[in-house]
Amino acid sequence: MANYLGYSLFFLYCLAHIVDVYGGRDFYSILGVPKNADTRQIKKAYRTKAKNLHPDKNKDDPDADEKFKDLGAAYEVLSDEDKRAKYDRCGEECVKEDGGFGNMDPFASFFGGFGFDFDDGHQRGRGETPRGADVVIDLWVTLEELYSGNFVEVVRNKPVFRPASGTRRCNCRQEMVTRQLGPGRFAMTQQQVCDECPNVKLESEERLLEVEVEQGMKDGQEQRFVAEGEPHVDGDPGDLIFKIQTRPHPRFERRGDDLYTNVTVSLSDALTGFDMEIEHLDGHKVRVQREKVTWPGARIRKKGEGMPNYENNNLFGTMYITIDVDFPKKEFSEEEKENLRDIIQQESKFKVYNGLDGY
Ligand SMILES: *[C@@H]1O[C@H](CO)[C@@H](O)[C@H](O)[C@H]1NC(C)=O
Repeated sequence: MANYLGYSLFFLYCLAHIVDVYGGRDFYSILGVPKNADTRQIKKAYRTKAKNLHPDKNKDDPDADEKFKDLGAAYEVLSDEDKRAKYDRCGEECVKEDGGFGNMDPFASFFGGFGFDFDDGHQRGRGETPRGADVVIDLWVTLEELYSGNFVEVVRNKPVFRPASGTRRCNCRQEMVTRQLGPGRFAMTQQQVCDECPNVKLESEERLLEVEVEQGMKDGQEQRFVAEGEPHVDGDPGDLIFKIQTRPHPRFERRGDDLYTNVTVSLSDALTGFDMEIEHLDGHKVRVQREKVTWPGARIRKKGEGMPNYENNNLFGTMYITIDVDFPKKEFSEEEKENLRDIIQQESKFKVYNGLDGY
């Protein structure tokens, strides 16, 4: 029995070792995504984990740097189609042999929004260090993107200061200078005093930024890329801020987390009932069924078919479907009219009103 246990343990040990040699790190479990995860899931997982695992936030954890590096490597490989295919085939070693990886700064300003969590004002100047201007850009997104979430690539030609030959005047300030003109006579003048700094020139640098459109974001919400804004010659660059703006949608209108849409049905369907489907923003079908008579302006509510809530993506708003009735244009014969009256059996009624309820 003891022997059997021994063999089993040995076998397990070998197995673990084989996996170790063959596979290297398990990038899928580092990111916490399934093997068949799509790019969006991978990016989403990376963004969430990078926020939580950032070494600045985990100063008590001695392994924080290591964990963060693992995360960066996992993301670098799995977010790249070629590297991911290689990794799936023969593990980390393979990807390394083939040109390698690990040169990506895992915390390069990638998805925006990172800045918020760490910047409590202590790292970046509170007035002492001058800052370049923040750049605010409207990011126009579709309702589909806000429903499912998306990552938008933005190429920014960012102006940066590079060292150049010569020197320049810098850190200029006003100082009072007192000059003695004679016994008991002084002149005080204000003078500009500057230092000499190495010269710089302004160059354009291309940066690929990946902006996350998070599920349920609302107009005016921001994704901030720290230090990607205008540079400052004597200080820190400002931030780049993307402001979410929703493009109008041909079928849906959003109010808060609710969606509104209109459906035109034929008069026969309005009278006898119908069964139809509305294609939602992610392609899934919303079934609308009526047995009873549906009048023009009737509003059908579908709970949980609105937009996802930004704070809690598992909560959804309501879809309001307003029915419009398409009346037939044809003229009915006397006999048909008789039949219709027979079937519908509604008394003639002519109520004159002004549409303002209560007056
Ligand atoms: C539905 O129809 C009403 C009235 O015609 C219109 O004001 C509204 O914008 C429409 N809603 C959508 C989502 O098209």
